[in-house]
Amino acid sequence: MRICCIGAGYVGGPTMTVIAHKCPDIRVDVVDINKARVDAWNSDNLPVFEPGLAEIVSEVRGRNLFFSNDVDAAIEAADIVFISVNTPTKTYGHGAGSASDLSFVESCARRIAEVSKSGKIVVEKSTMPVRTADVIKTILNTTGLGFQVLSNPEFLAEGTAIADLKSPDRVLIGGDEDSEEGRKAIATLSSVYERWIPAERIIKTNLWSSELSKLTANAFLAQRISSINAISALCEATGADVQQVAKAVGSDSRIGPKFLNASIGYGGSCFQKDLLNLVYLCEHFNLPEVAKYWRGVSDMNRYQKSRFSRQVVDCLFRNIMGKRLAIWGFAFKENTNDTRESPAIDICRDFLAENAKLAFYDPKVSEEQIRKDLCLTVDDPRVEFCKTPYEAAENAHAIILLTQWEEFKNLDYKRIKKAMMTPAWIFDGRNSLDHRLLLDLGFLLRGIGKGNLS
Ligand code: NAD
Ligand code: UGA
Repeated sequence: MRICCIGAGYVGGPTMTVIAHKCPDIRVDVVDINKARVDAWNSDNLPVFEPGLAEIVSEVRGRNLFFSNDVDAAIEAADIVFISVNTPTKTYGHGAGSASDLSFVESCARRIAEVSKSGKIVVEKSTMPVRTADVIKTILNTTGLGFQVLSNPEFLAEGTAIADLKSPDRVLIGGDEDSEEGRKAIATLSSVYERWIPAERIIKTNLWSSELSKLTANAFLAQRISSINAISALCEATGADVQQVAKAVGSDSRIGPKFLNASIGYGGSCFQKDLLNLVYLCEHFNLPEVAKYWRGVSDMNRYQKSRFSRQVVDCLFRNIMGKRLAIWGFAFKENTNDTRESPAIDICRDFLAENAKLAFYDPKVSEEQIRKDLCLTVDDPRVEFCKTPYEAAENAHAIILLTQWEEFKNLDYKRIKKAMMTPAWIFDGRNSLDHRLLLDLGFLLRGIGKGNLS
């Protein structure tokens, strides 16, 4: 069996690496039109940072895993073609700002139709609006070659991608359950995953349920974060502690403890995009009340980010002009170099609008990426890029912790306090530091939803 995956991004790269690792008899070709990205996958400096990824890539690359720009050849030789390209929010025309831009998916379907000499199983791995498989089918059916289209959305989270892929809660495969060929295609894809995933964790549905389940899962996860963030504002107003509330609430087995960490708001390439897409679909199907309900989740996220940056400005005497702020962390979460939709972007833009000086430190995000995200020129005097968190904190009025990197927990805070201006502020946007210790050292401190800090 040969597998081709179109799209060597955060999903295509790690997912195919694990498939190649678990199925040594299957040749896996990951192809992309982006030459720099493919070159990086073929180098020691992979384009994606994920714990454990580099080790597996070095084991399987050149054995049964190959990265290349030769899209056509890989499609032609494959039995199963995964489409794992980006499906960003549309920025133009009808649905701009909420609908998904499916132009990359459509061009993959056209390419498959054009170069294939035999029918294949085509798998939607990208997150798609419900009923996208119809678009792909319509294009492929023009060939008369007999393609089967499956939906197999990916549930990995960045930072834990390899662990998630090796041991997923579930694998979802949607297909045409009503036809013999459809059922056969579902069974073929399932047999790949069954090499390492127990069969009972592989859920089989019709196409539309599978496509919609992915959007719904992300919407539910984002909703939990917005719910606890909403409560965090109330905690601050009342003296309650959001972590204590989350523990008490999450101990109810009907609610569960996960995804109840109050924060500066969720980021990442998918929650916002998929929520907006869900809102768009509801509006499209004339369900305005449902659309409004889900839009509220996104509104709360925006509120949480701006509430945080406003709090920083307020605490620093409503004036941060010319003041040095140490920005600790820029990635949208820990253990990734990804900054897409990172809450750090909006928060730092707010600080720059107030003419603050920002000293950045992130262990994995490059200076170039931060400049790009904040639209900064190379000679912008308001920013500095530091090699350690200590350097960033030197002469700073405040430390703003935006990403929950483990290393921030184990620093010498006595040394840091000494090097800072007084009063020395810490704004812990992830509630990840030892607040008691910091208060004892004389820092002024704000967490998220910590109404009890003095
Ligand atoms: P990405 O932007 O990192 O990668 C997409 C890749 O596809 C890019 O390298 C791009 O060059 C390539 N591409 C685009 N059009 C192409 C074409 N016609 N031919 C060949 N290559 C093409 O995106 P990603 O983060 O990997 O996400 C991919 C999909 O998976 C999205 O739909 C996303 O919603 C979904 N998803 C992402 C995650 C995640 O954690 N990032 C998790 C689950 C699902
Ligand atoms: C999320 C989902 O968890 C994956 O299942 C899904 O496959 C993926 O989106 C996708 O479709 O792209 P990801 O965005 O990589 O994964 O990371 P998460 O761990 O979900 O974190 C998302 C954001 O929420 C981060 O900014 C994180 O810091 C924040 N978060 C998470 C909180 O603020 N509080 C929490 O309790 C959990």
